[in-house]
Amino acid sequence: MRLHDDLIAKDIGAYLEAHEHKSLLRFITCGSVDDGKSTLIGRMLYDSKMIYEDQLASLEADSKKMGTQGKDIDFALLVDGLAAEREQGITIDVAYRFFSTQKRKFIVADTPGHEQYTRNMATGASTADVAILLIDARRGVLTQTRRHAFITYSLGIRHMVLAVNKMDLVDYDKAVFDEIVAEFHAFADELGPDLEIEPIPLSALKGDNITGPSEATSWYTGPSLMEYLETVPVDDARRSAAFRMPVQWVNRPNLDFRGFSGQIASGTVCVGDRIKTLPSAKESRVARIVTMDGDLEEAIAGQSVTLTLEDEVDSSRGDVIATADSPPEVSDQFQVRVLWMSERPLLPGRKYIFKIGAKQVRGTVNAPKFAIDINTLSDEPARTLELNEFGVTTISLDEPIAFDPYNEIREMGGFIIVDRLTNDTMGMGLIDFALRRASNIHWQELDVDRNALSEQKGQKPAVLWFTGLSGSGKSTIANQVQKRLFAMGRHTFVLDGDNVRHGLNRDLGFTDADRVENIRRISHVAKLMADAGLIVLVSFISPFRSERQMARNLMSDGEFVEIFVDTPLDVAEERDVKGLYKKARAGEIKNFTGIDSPYEAPQAAEITIKTLEHSVDESAEAILRWLQQQEIV
Ligand code: ADX
Repeated sequence: MRLHDDLIAKDIGAYLEAHEHKSLLRFITCGSVDDGKSTLIGRMLYDSKMIYEDQLASLEADSKKMGTQGKDIDFALLVDGLAAEREQGITIDVAYRFFSTQKRKFIVADTPGHEQYTRNMATGASTADVAILLIDARRGVLTQTRRHAFITYSLGIRHMVLAVNKMDLVDYDKAVFDEIVAEFHAFADELGPDLEIEPIPLSALKGDNITGPSEATSWYTGPSLMEYLETVPVDDARRSAAFRMPVQWVNRPNLDFRGFSGQIASGTVCVGDRIKTLPSAKESRVARIVTMDGDLEEAIAGQSVTLTLEDEVDSSRGDVIATADSPPEVSDQFQVRVLWMSERPLLPGRKYIFKIGAKQVRGTVNAPKFAIDINTLSDEPARTLELNEFGVTTISLDEPIAFDPYNEIREMGGFIIVDRLTNDTMGMGLIDFALRRASNIHWQELDVDRNALSEQKGQKPAVLWFTGLSGSGKSTIANQVQKRLFAMGRHTFVLDGDNVRHGLNRDLGFTDADRVENIRRISHVAKLMADAGLIVLVSFISPFRSERQMARNLMSDGEFVEIFVDTPLDVAEERDVKGLYKKARAGEIKNFTGIDSPYEAPQAAEITIKTLEHSVDESAEAILRWLQQQEIV
């Protein structure tokens, strides 16, 4: 048996080009660990004469050894798609494998099946046309099966193969197969009327129903797996949709050339077409479609091109170029579906980075409306989303973006959520629609503005943000600073954690999520007070860097002064003014900062007060001196 020489291609482009005349089908294999994923992929490659017998044996050995991870299968023709994912700072474990038969070429997203790897599966599924859902005939439909069916359906896959594998281990019993199919239908029929399910009894190991009918299952009259994959209609919705191209970068080698480069997300573009750039909504016409191999008259979804326009249009990375006839909407608030993919739960109100198309923008996820129970598909109340949970919620972005609902154009409505500090991928989401309130609520312009208000008071507004452990001395020092400012005739107000938690924030406790919300609210209150022209002294533990940064970003430049009241934990605990540390140590108070809840000390506070070295008066004096030096007071 020989490898097809033309398949020993080192990169995707060369491989796909060699098979250009064939249609391309992208599929994903999913299922639980040990359902036989690697064996199945190996078998398809083997039966399609892609690999040698000994490689198949080693593939099977690998899959036994490592569950379904099997990522180190080393065939010349298998190009690893990992590199591309890493480039964007996302480490997601998906291996894309390429092969072809007489009729079609295939890209299979091979993803580890362990529960914690749902994120890999979702990434692979977001570009697939077909999902092969593997089931071990002995074990039947599992929660993992339902989860994968639900996620692949949500991500837009409408063709599913219910691959009932290991039929050899149940004596090719039709009754076993029928029962599994019936159970799966009872679940999957709830997903949506447009889902097509093709159940196939298989033995990946023995090769039954992989490329042709198997005698062992003479009762089965449907297609073999490869027959199905070769004939299932490839959805070309992407090509027939309206033209969209997210701008990856602006190409300006010299003054005479200005091109916008990117991969066409959907539709077709021709020279002379009227386009619009978004969100700026400037119109122009396509002057040239430039590629590495020369100019084109027309380009389609999936191609990477550089467009030049007839007019000088100012557009930058992350913008979208779209057909002027039906451009995407622009908004900054959306209803979305989110799949949470991190061990650290969603913190509503925290600032995350959203990556959508070629755009990166900051924003927050609001409290979920509900989470979806994967087994029953029912809505469950939820305050947050945990690892692998799928929920419906809204998001608010710091800037407007151009988008299409995910169900219409995947590339324009899918996004990932990234932690700002660690750069970890936290979740993935799908835009359903823009919230109408985004376009119905406008800033009211007021004649008496913040400048007028602060001028009237004869001062510059400022937010003095005291952070530190409970009992570190924040409130005592803030109190002293306020007294001094008051004596100087300044207009001030103190916002203190203990006080605000009696009223406005009475509904909040001390979980991470509640602290995030506590600080979110209080930073907005501080912002309003600064707008009123006041010098605001904020005294909250505010233990997370992320929320202190969020508060800082809300204020005008130079207005936010972070004051770290630096008292070592053992000292605060020894003082224990309120007796809370003692209770926390005794286990009577949960989530106590410094004991069983983290405090992230500032790394670049404007002022650090070491309370071991300075008295309250000295500390207040030092703060006032700093404010005077900066000409804040
Ligand atoms: S923050 O973390 O959300 O910023 P905040 O400053 O509002 O906390 O409230 C802290 C005050 O609440 C402490 O000074 C203490 O008096 C009280 N408290 C009660 N329970 C806790 C707890 N588990 N952790 C920290 N402080 C607590």
